[in-house]
Amino acid sequence: MKAGACARIDAAQDLAALEALRVEFLGKQGSISGLLKTLGKMSPEERQEKAPKIQALRQDVADALAARKAAMEEAELEQRLAQETLDLSLPAPDMPRGTVHPVSQVMDELAEIFADLGFSVATGPEIEDDWYNFTALNMPESHPARAMHDTFYFPDQAPRGGRMLLRTHTSPVQIRTMTEKGAPVRIIAPGRVYRSDSDATHTPMFHQIEGLVIDRDIHLGHLKWTLETFLKAFFEREDIVLRLRPSYFPFTEPSVEVDVGFAIENGKRVLGGSGDEPGHGWMELLGSGMVNRRVIEFSGLDPDEWQGFAFGLGVDRLAMLKYGMDDLRAFFDGDVRWLQHYGFSP
Ligand code: PHE
Repeated sequence: MKAGACARIDAAQDLAALEALRVEFLGKQGSISGLLKTLGKMSPEERQEKAPKIQALRQDVADALAARKAAMEEAELEQRLAQETLDLSLPAPDMPRGTVHPVSQVMDELAEIFADLGFSVATGPEIEDDWYNFTALNMPESHPARAMHDTFYFPDQAPRGGRMLLRTHTSPVQIRTMTEKGAPVRIIAPGRVYRSDSDATHTPMFHQIEGLVIDRDIHLGHLKWTLETFLKAFFEREDIVLRLRPSYFPFTEPSVEVDVGFAIENGKRVLGGSGDEPGHGWMELLGSGMVNRRVIEFSGLDPDEWQGFAFGLGVDRLAMLKYGMDDLRAFFDGDVRWLQHYGFSP
């Protein structure tokens, strides 16, 4: 019986035929299964003699089925490999390649410049708690400055009151750094921020870099020197001129808005020189000031011991200035031609 079964298994031409044989021999109604059932009716002596033979037969047939199946599968693979040919001379489809985004490049450059000035990089969450984004920055519940922030709110309650929100600026990282690390502090905090606003110079998501220095005896002169030094390095020009204007932010006192002088060359704004010269102008660049005592207190530090300055600047705006781009929305279209137009190539 064994020889006959094995011969038929070896002759099977496909998997279906092989399966039919398996059922015929080993299935519930199969012939070998039938033999096994006869064991019950045998005398103990006869059973002792026949049982091992039937078991061995079943094992041999099962092994033959498995071996044939493996051989069939291998043959099929061989055949497929022989048929499939790969034409390496075919031209590859033309896939446009991008570059590191200009905003990321500017952020990297800024991080490098500030690293030379002894600043390290800090980060905070984009989904922020009302307390960090507003309250601890001296903007309590009813503060009018909150209305200027066009905030995207979540329905979720925030742990310290109010609701969770998409941070409207990188300033909450000031609070997080001071509460977590104490003082002194010398950090920049680059990242995404969100405001419900959209036109050629505003997108609902944009990028800021926050700067914070907290130490003893820090004054406005340190702020001005830091900004001048970094802007000269960033724009690679020695003739950068800044103008500090009194302004108002709830979290700085005094607050200063910083303008940079530019000239018009070939219809384009070129940074450099005083904005007061004929044909020149001033462009608003960033908000800054001496950190408000209340903010230092909110962060758990003693404002009589620790003072400092903070600034916040728009990274996208800085990239537009450096590379002469005029529409902020194009930053986030993901169009490779736009990159190439401004000289970014892989
Ligand atoms: N957070 C302010 C803004 O987004 C900018 C700023 C930062 C001003 C730090 C002063 C100090 O407009």
